[in-house]
Amino acid sequence: MPEDDRNEQAETGALAPETLTVWAGEDDSLVQGATQVPIVYSAAYAYPDVDTWLDVALGRTPGHIYSRNTNPTVAALEEKVRVLEGAAAATSFATGMAAISNTLFALLSPGDRVVSVKDTYGGTNQLFTGFLPRIGVEVELCDTTDHARIEETIAAGCALVYLETPTNPTLKVMDIARLAKAGHAAGAVVVADNTFATPINQHPLALGADLVLHSATKFLGGHADVLGGVLCGERDLVAKVFHYREITGAALDPMAAYLLIRSLKTLALRVQRQNENALRIARWLESQPAVTTVNYPGLESHPQHDIARRQMSGYGGVLSFGLEGGLESVKALLPRLRLARRAANLGAVETVAGPPATTSHVECTPEERAAMGIPEGLIRYSVGIEDAGDLIADLTQALAALG
Ligand SMILES: Cc1ncc(COP(=O)(O)O)c(C=O)c1O
Repeated sequence: MPEDDRNEQAETGALAPETLTVWAGEDDSLVQGATQVPIVYSAAYAYPDVDTWLDVALGRTPGHIYSRNTNPTVAALEEKVRVLEGAAAATSFATGMAAISNTLFALLSPGDRVVSVKDTYGGTNQLFTGFLPRIGVEVELCDTTDHARIEETIAAGCALVYLETPTNPTLKVMDIARLAKAGHAAGAVVVADNTFATPINQHPLALGADLVLHSATKFLGGHADVLGGVLCGERDLVAKVFHYREITGAALDPMAAYLLIRSLKTLALRVQRQNENALRIARWLESQPAVTTVNYPGLESHPQHDIARRQMSGYGGVLSFGLEGGLESVKALLPRLRLARRAANLGAVETVAGPPATTSHVECTPEERAAMGIPEGLIRYSVGIEDAGDLIADLTQALAALG
């Protein structure tokens, strides 16, 4: 989070996301007439005299001191995501997990209580069940869709409420506005992981969250070739997390920032196509006899479809489905897919498929997955930007081969 007065820049509220993804955040970093943000590979920044240097070091003049703290390419990326999320401030990290762990460790102290849900991403769940309790932070993980129970647990007192919606890999939906209200009534900071929805489909800050974070590795990057994390939100909270990150060191690499800037220019196009493809494929899967369940917030049959319709403008590119025959059917189907990478990733331009046991919840035992309501016979299917008809034909031939 470099210059403190970024928020005072001409705000771009009148522009559509399609325009902001292309134009936001880049001008300050352009050099010598270049039309694209340069990749600045410099560990440190030199100054002609101590007074000028001191002005930058103390934040009186914009500039950079050392790239673990701030870097021009990284700053341009942070600014683009800040504008897309409608936030006062933003900072970035080497990975999505660095964004999540730095946020939690920066804002929580021994004796604090956190309220979250059972269905968070597997790595996040490990922080809640292992690392945070180890430093004396009490963690309450509620049933993800039991909003009344979550409200009660929050009202009993907590320092932080952590939401993730839609969830990975069962696509459950949480009411951000309702739970943010409950969090604020208890004096808690409300954090939302917006990785699955993206700033094209959902704006947690506008719904009441204080902080929104992303695994930029997924839809923001969109090409499965870069790792990153971004945090946006209220200025003082982001400053606190930024300070923790600049000292503990999980900074985003400038090359990764450049790739993310380039990818973000097509974010709206990609996500709109993925929204359309995923909805069409989810509807088609619902009609297949071998398919036992289809989890997608855009389906009228989804238990939280009404909440999703209220708080999302598109339902995202990820769905999951269960197969008759459980894990054996999953093992038989996946190798037959010709138009899907079998990989532990999502949000890419190409379709990616895998079971939770090797993707989102690889860190958990089968028993832990079962306790989270994640069947071993589930496939997470992250829809790419291919032709939906081709993907349905591919699924058709793979399902037919199951017999
Ligand atoms: C919802 C969600 N949040 C966070 C992460 C962690 O991101 P990263 O792999 O970039 O550390 C993931 C990774 O799959 C995720 O799906």
